[in-house]
Amino acid sequence: MKDFSQKLDLLKNQDSFRFLRYSLGQTGAYVDIDGKTFVNMASNDYLDLSNDERLIQAGIKAAKKYGTGSTSSRLITGNLTLNDELENQLAADYQKEAALVFPTGYMTNLGIISGLAGKEDLIFSDKLNHASIVDGIKLSSVPFKRYAHKDMTHLEKLLKTNKNVKNKFIITDTIFSMDGDRAMLPEIATLAKKYKAFTIIDEAHANGVLGENGLGLAEEQMVLKDIDLVMGTFSKALGSLGGFVTGKRDVIDYLINKARSFIYTTGLPASVLAANIESLSIIRNEKSSRENLLNLSAYLREELTSGGFKILDSSTQIIPVIIGENEKAVALSKRLYNRGFIVVAIRPPTVPSGTSRLRISLSSAHKKESLKEFIEILSYESRQLGII
Ligand SMILES: Cc1ncc(COP(=O)(O)O)c(C=O)c1O
Repeated sequence: MKDFSQKLDLLKNQDSFRFLRYSLGQTGAYVDIDGKTFVNMASNDYLDLSNDERLIQAGIKAAKKYGTGSTSSRLITGNLTLNDELENQLAADYQKEAALVFPTGYMTNLGIISGLAGKEDLIFSDKLNHASIVDGIKLSSVPFKRYAHKDMTHLEKLLKTNKNVKNKFIITDTIFSMDGDRAMLPEIATLAKKYKAFTIIDEAHANGVLGENGLGLAEEQMVLKDIDLVMGTFSKALGSLGGFVTGKRDVIDYLINKARSFIYTTGLPASVLAANIESLSIIRNEKSSRENLLNLSAYLREELTSGGFKILDSSTQIIPVIIGENEKAVALSKRLYNRGFIVVAIRPPTVPSGTSRLRISLSSAHKKESLKEFIEILSYESRQLGII
């Protein structure tokens, strides 16, 4: 039997021990803990929709009508009609033939990759893709090549070397979850066409945030029609839970038949589906909060850079502040917490070693005053710790 306590001690000694810390009991850009208000810069609730009365009421109404659980897999009796409504809306928004909703974004990536790709295929995956993509690849045992982060020359070299493989898939995050930078989708689409590869993009941090209609980076970069499968999630900017994928009807039908993380799990409950339908409609109709979010993000990035912080190539609402050592990143996060700011330290293996960081994620509900105060406190505490 493994000695788990010894292994835990090792993690603690490396400042890599993870534990469930904040019992927030609430969501939002500002949260109250023990009578003190904290600025929450750690959540992915980018548009503050998790607290939106319209989503809450839609959820309550649906729970009253349909009950709290969907009670079985969607292929058995758990396919509430709200799924249809949601999927039709998604297909229409993304101008694709069909859509499929999964219980989470993680399960969507697991299902897409393991459902579509097999041992005789080849996947080309950006080195910084999210863990759910990495796990999908592992689960399917598909051969894969990782290309250097956003390095299109490297990607082309790999595609060229493997041009005789029949089924090639290129997969990328659109906004990278730990770096906050944007993928180069037009270049990826061009390479995919040239080498006859199938494209899958993960818009988890971009849907609701980028693009004229909030559909994500592919909309912003005007390549939506060139991408074969667009995946997204309801758990971040859309303030709820669930993952989705949109694409051609036959690919979606194939996933219904082959994606094990879709087949062998219970469908989403009505309350969640109804909230998701509501949040999609808000995203379509309300541009101002995503514009506000992007303005606040640009302001904070500029202030951090001019304050001497390294924020990599972030160009979005996810802003990494690179610290380097685990110990200092954790210490800084604790000091910020004591000063009223919740910002988590992200350490290896989630990010490459030597790049431990604070991951700031902004909300459209943050006040500019809070960001000003944050910069002052962050600068002071970082100087105390010898970070800047
Ligand atoms: C890029 C990316 N894809 C997928 C997921 C998984 O989404 P969900 O939280 O809905 O399971 C995440 C979540 O952190 C993510 O960052």
